[in-house]
Amino acid sequence: MNLLVIGGGGREHAIVRAIRKNPNVDRVFCIPGNDGMPEATPFPIDVMDTQRQITFAQTEHVDFVIVSPDDPLVAGAADAFRDAGFQTFGPSKQAAQLEGSKAFAKAFMQRHHIPTAAYEVFDDAQAAYAYVEDEARAGHLPLVVKADGLALGKGVTIAETLEEAKEAIHRLMEEGQFGDSGREVVIEEFLEGPEVTVLSLTDGHTVVPLLSSMDHKRAYDGDEGPNTGGMGVIAPNPYYTDEIAARCMEEIFTPTLNGMAEEGAPFTGCLYFGLMLTQDGPKVIEYNCRFGDPEAQAVLALLESDLLTALQATTDGTLSPEMVRFADGASCCVILASDGYPLHYEKNLEITIPRDVADKVYAAGIRKKGSTLYTNGGRVVGVVETAPTLEEAINAAYQTAARVTFANKVFRRDIGQRALRVLRAGKGGKA
Ligand code: AMP
Ligand code: GLY
Repeated sequence: MNLLVIGGGGREHAIVRAIRKNPNVDRVFCIPGNDGMPEATPFPIDVMDTQRQITFAQTEHVDFVIVSPDDPLVAGAADAFRDAGFQTFGPSKQAAQLEGSKAFAKAFMQRHHIPTAAYEVFDDAQAAYAYVEDEARAGHLPLVVKADGLALGKGVTIAETLEEAKEAIHRLMEEGQFGDSGREVVIEEFLEGPEVTVLSLTDGHTVVPLLSSMDHKRAYDGDEGPNTGGMGVIAPNPYYTDEIAARCMEEIFTPTLNGMAEEGAPFTGCLYFGLMLTQDGPKVIEYNCRFGDPEAQAVLALLESDLLTALQATTDGTLSPEMVRFADGASCCVILASDGYPLHYEKNLEITIPRDVADKVYAAGIRKKGSTLYTNGGRVVGVVETAPTLEEAINAAYQTAARVTFANKVFRRDIGQRALRVLRAGKGGKA
């Protein structure tokens, strides 16, 4: 079988590595891929140029396509591949609206009584200002201001004061910081509690949750600094007990799947549930229409069953929970980034990855010139280790991370520490 993965970061490297384990796989192409993933052949076509990708897939006799990132999915890439006759993993354009439009996702949750933060949507800046003034006067602060559309994970402001809320509205709606993505804004209630990511596979009817995980989104230790795409992950998430998992299945996962099917937009592919465990129970912070990055790196490292079989089963209605099995133990992913990420950072610095740890390293932004590897992005690599306990996984990940070198390497030193504290206090679920 020949496979084509659309995307080019650490998440795609994790997918490529996992599907390579299937003995029926011959060639794996990754568009655009990157030079740090030897398990796939990278090919330089723009991630959004679906028509050229289809021509490539036809020429190379591709049997199965995995559309991994949000942008092409929201633009309808999975539909285009399917229309061209390819068996394709990934939601339709209509179903990808769960991520592509926060206003759609919020209204959908309201229609189907799925727990989420209370909210209002605005397409008029004056009305938005008036609303936040009223809310602030009523003592409802902080407020959360979100761009409706995709904004590289940077479209969310937690406004502690009325001024910050107004500033966020001004940037999104009047200055057009994220173009059309921010012309409409969602303003919502601030929720408190630990966050959990649950990736799931679904064929439109059956939803199979993968191992839970905990992302670390802020750039610096102690959850300080700007939001990033994610600086590290541990799995499983100790806050996510069996009891909470059962509740999420009943109150969130199943109603989401059924709701989308009822509305004529069944979701197939990977549905990402960003959850907050509040005092009133689990609530949806966001849906994503794809694997998380770096969550996929930590979660797939513990997958024991065959990923490709499960991905294929999402496309023909044959998915079942038995297809997904995880090893016991824990995993930890530490992202090594270029100093300055997510704002300004240098590229093209030589990077060394010792051969004996290469299979623990997932390439997010790497370029090769001759036989030398160079950094080519803000997030450069993810280092993932698994072990019987979380503490061992964390220690191993940091030891390996120390051996990957490049000039402006930065990373958080506290990935998993909060989870460890929860485990030590005996408040959480399994190790
Ligand atoms: P999002 O892009 O929607 O995932 O938001 C990014 C981050 O902002 C989330 O991971 C949360 O930490 C935070 N966040 C989003 N919505 C809320 C909310 N309603 N209350 C508190 N924090 C939130
Ligand atoms: N790590 C967060 C995301 O993939 O959206």
